[in-house]
Amino acid sequence: MKVLVTGGLGFIGSHTVVQLAKRGHKVVIVDNLSNSREDVLTRIEEITGIKSKLFIEDATDEASMRRIFEASSFDGVIHFAGLKAVGESIKKPIEYYYNNLVSTMVLSKLCIEFGVEKFVFSSSATVYGNQPSPLSEIMDLKERTNPYGETKAISERILTDAAKVNLGFSVCLLRYFNPIGAHESGLLGEDPRGIPNNLMPFITRVANRDIEKLTIFGDDYDTEDGTCVRDYIHVVDIAEGHIAAIENMGKGVSVYNLGTGKGTSVLELIETFKKVNGVDVPFVIGERRPGDIAVCYADPSKAYKELGWKANKSLEDMVRDAWRFEVNNNQ
Ligand code: UD1
Repeated sequence: MKVLVTGGLGFIGSHTVVQLAKRGHKVVIVDNLSNSREDVLTRIEEITGIKSKLFIEDATDEASMRRIFEASSFDGVIHFAGLKAVGESIKKPIEYYYNNLVSTMVLSKLCIEFGVEKFVFSSSATVYGNQPSPLSEIMDLKERTNPYGETKAISERILTDAAKVNLGFSVCLLRYFNPIGAHESGLLGEDPRGIPNNLMPFITRVANRDIEKLTIFGDDYDTEDGTCVRDYIHVVDIAEGHIAAIENMGKGVSVYNLGTGKGTSVLELIETFKKVNGVDVPFVIGERRPGDIAVCYADPSKAYKELGWKANKSLEDMVRDAWRFEVNNNQ
């Protein structure tokens, strides 16, 4: 297949480009470099031996996207490009709604116009809102507490409505749980600009002594050790979920959780990181972070039944690979 990957230099996008290339698919990348670096392209080439075409463009720019669709005939689009910091989305709602929704509309519109049949979308477990885990695709979506989450739910809705009336246009919505880890080569990983928002890049920066200590956001939750429980999943497993999706997706709209089905607390993740890597991660217990829920993990059985995909890598693999990337790149 020939696949257009937006946000292909980002954390999940770059790992997916590697897996696509390994499976023999041709990839064209669109990335605006807002939270990624151009040298990721060289690193992808180092791993795969294949140089993908890169367009440094913004996926909200319809004229530029149209030129890319005119120049190539795609079998599918995987749309990763988007803003994803929850806290920032509360401060800059218009920017988040504009970026994340306009890009989804521009790309789906062009797919329909140019007869591109497959559209895989980066969604998030956040669309389930606060409901008891395991979270399953048959559950209704519940209210989100921030504009970022809302952009994922509205994008799902836009794509679903578009696929209903455009029979040649099929959509696969992938709801990620908590992707962490890095490529085992140490060349690709999560490298956010500035102070990280998410737990794993924060842990690696503290272990690296770039940041003095980690604050655990609350230890009074109704969980075994009082800290929040999440479904951490290796980014390479997530990338493989996209390959399974684009190669096996049916007609119409399909929705899959990409998670392991296993919950891990903040303290367990820190302890595993320390044990596997033999480094210290100083932390203090702080206030709860507004909008956090106590427990969130997937029922991943649908993706296994229908796509033959399941996560294979362990928590140990995730923390080892994340640390290797940090050491290779920021020490
Ligand atoms: C967050 C978003 C989610 C988004 C995902 C990917 C919220 C409420 N949710 O998920 O919508 O899809 O990121 O970008 O922000 N933690 C600490 N200290 C830290 C950082 C995190 O204790 O410095 C804790 C959090 O309270 C949470 C866990 O670590 O319990 C994981 O946090 P994070 O990595 O931000 O992911 P989520 O909150 O699950």
